[in-house]
This record gives sequence, structure tokens and C-alpha cells, in this order.
Amino acid sequence: MLALRSASRSTASRVGLRLKSTKVAVLGASGGIGQPLALLCKLSENIDEVACYDVAPVLPGVAADLSHCPTGAKITGHLPSSGAWPPTHDKGLEAAVSGADVIVIPAGVPRKPGMTRDDLFNTNAGIVKTLVEGCGKFAPDAVLAIISNPVNSTVPIAAEVLKKLGVYNKNKLCGVTTLDVCRANTFLAANQGKHPKEIVTVIGGHAGITILPLLSQVPGTTLSAADRDALTHRIQFGGDEVVKAKAGGGSATLSMAYAGYLFTEGVIKGLKGESVTQCAYVESSLTEARFFASPCKFGKGGVEEVLPFGELSAYEKGWFDKMLPELKAQIKKGEDFANQ
Ligand code: 2OP
Repeated sequence: MLALRSASRSTASRVGLRLKSTKVAVLGASGGIGQPLALLCKLSENIDEVACYDVAPVLPGVAADLSHCPTGAKITGHLPSSGAWPPTHDKGLEAAVSGADVIVIPAGVPRKPGMTRDDLFNTNAGIVKTLVEGCGKFAPDAVLAIISNPVNSTVPIAAEVLKKLGVYNKNKLCGVTTLDVCRANTFLAANQGKHPKEIVTVIGGHAGITILPLLSQVPGTTLSAADRDALTHRIQFGGDEVVKAKAGGGSATLSMAYAGYLFTEGVIKGLKGESVTQCAYVESSLTEARFFASPCKFGKGGVEEVLPFGELSAYEKGWFDKMLPELKAQIKKGEDFANQ
């Protein structure tokens, strides 16, 4: 595949074409999610440059480490130029995000046992706000993929920040909910004794009961009420399972990195002209909540269409009604923070 890619590059140069290279920036690249996410991007055939940015002094070492993998993607490493946080006029952030097609943001602190994602708000909201200000200034056309929790609130923060800068494009701002889909596929497959390749649609948000897997829509699957209830709960609180098992060592990093990478690949394929459908937490008018995760069609302009999520079973409708006020409150919390 590497050979194929360079062959197509040299064919392009023979006929005088310049192939646009694809750049991904990872903000928070030396963290638990950022490192494996940057590694997966380094291995990708669809990515030509991975720009790694972090405030942690270990960042140049992470970039050097990644750069020794013999794959086509170039690695660059960037610290804030001022050496301080927040990085005002940060040349490091500017260099990391300039020209990026996709900027993935896992920066921030993870949960400890007993914490909800919302408990991270006070720390992570400011981090996301500052980083997105930089993205809006230096890479207004990039697709932003937000992983930093609480995603239900950090995506609205990002939207308000970009709006203030006059560069908000709702088709280019997404919260990553792919891990909920991964968990749904994995847990359902285990229940059914199948390979985890079913594609479960997961709607709503990315926290507790705002996560709603539509198990009734999976073709060829009949679940008992007890299995349905247990699976729904496990998918909603799958993140807590990892937080508890890590016993103070953080939350999901490897599966989150995998999910973030899958999502990024889907966005890039879309930007390159393929039509890709994947769930994402985006601004839409599907429900009363301004932001809502639902299947989206990605293409050259980012999110090209937010697709309706189909009919809900009575059980799912019950969760939907419970979820909506909680999701709306978390969205408002983000908007208020950005506009205070
Ligand atoms: C999770 O769902 C880290 O939010 C992430 O585990």
C-alpha cells in the first residue's frame, strides 16, 4: 500500500498534478489518548502528516519516538511557544494546526472513580476554549473532532468560540461518539456470540443516560427484555467500567484512541470524496437539543447531511424522553461558559 501510494504520487508528478497532502493535528498528543491516537494516525495510509501538540514537556520525545516508525506520514512536534498556559499568540499551536484538514482534541484531564464526565467541566472547559480559539484563528477550515470531556458541553463551547471569531461552520465541528458505537458493537456481539461487526446506531450525547443505543434497529437481532436492559446500561456506562478498573489511573485511553482514529479516518475519506456514514455529535435540528449525536453523512465539506435516526421502540423512547432535558442542560452549561 505504501508502494502504491508513492507510485500514485510519482504518476501524479509525471503528469504535472500535485496531490493535496492530508494533515491531522492532535492537541493533547502526549496524553493517555493522544499518544496511541497519534500512533494510529502515523500508521494510516490516508494521512501524510501528524502534528502533535501538547503543553507537557515530554511532547518532543513523544514526537521523536513516533517519528521512528517507518511509515509514510511525517511527524512534527509542537510545544506552546511561550512555554506557558494559556498559550497567547502561541506559535507552537499555530504551527501545529496551520493547514490541518482534521484537528482532533483529546486534551484535558480524565475521570477518577466516582466522577461523572461533567465533573471534569471546570478543568477541561477552559482548555478546550483556549485550544479552539487557536484553531479558529489558525485553521478556520479544519474539521474539529472533540474528544475532551464532557463532550456534551465542550462541543457547544467550541461552537460559541468559533462563532465569536466569525468562523463557525456547523458542518465542521463534531463531538466524537464513536467509542459508544464501538462498545455497542462489542457488547452486542458478545451477547449474541458473533463477531463484533454489527453496526449499532447510538444517538444522543456522550455521557451516561444521554447515550442511547438503538438495539431495536439491529437487523436479525432479537433480545430478551433483560438482555436489552443490561446491554443498554452497559453501553451507557461502559466508560465507568474502565474508570473503575483503572482504580484512579484514569479513563479509557486505548479504546478511545482507536475510536478517535476510526472517526478521523471516516472524516478524511469524506474530505477526499468518499461518502462515509458514521455517528457524530453535531449541531442539528433533529431534536429539541441543539447538539445531538446521530448518523451523519461525511463528504468533501465535512458533515454533508445529518440523517434521521429512524423509529424508536417504546423502551428507547422512554430513554430518549429522560435524556433530552439532561442533554439540553449540559449544552446550555457549555454555551453559558463560552459566553460569560
Ligand atoms: C469514555 O467514554 C473517555 O469519554 C471516554 O470512556
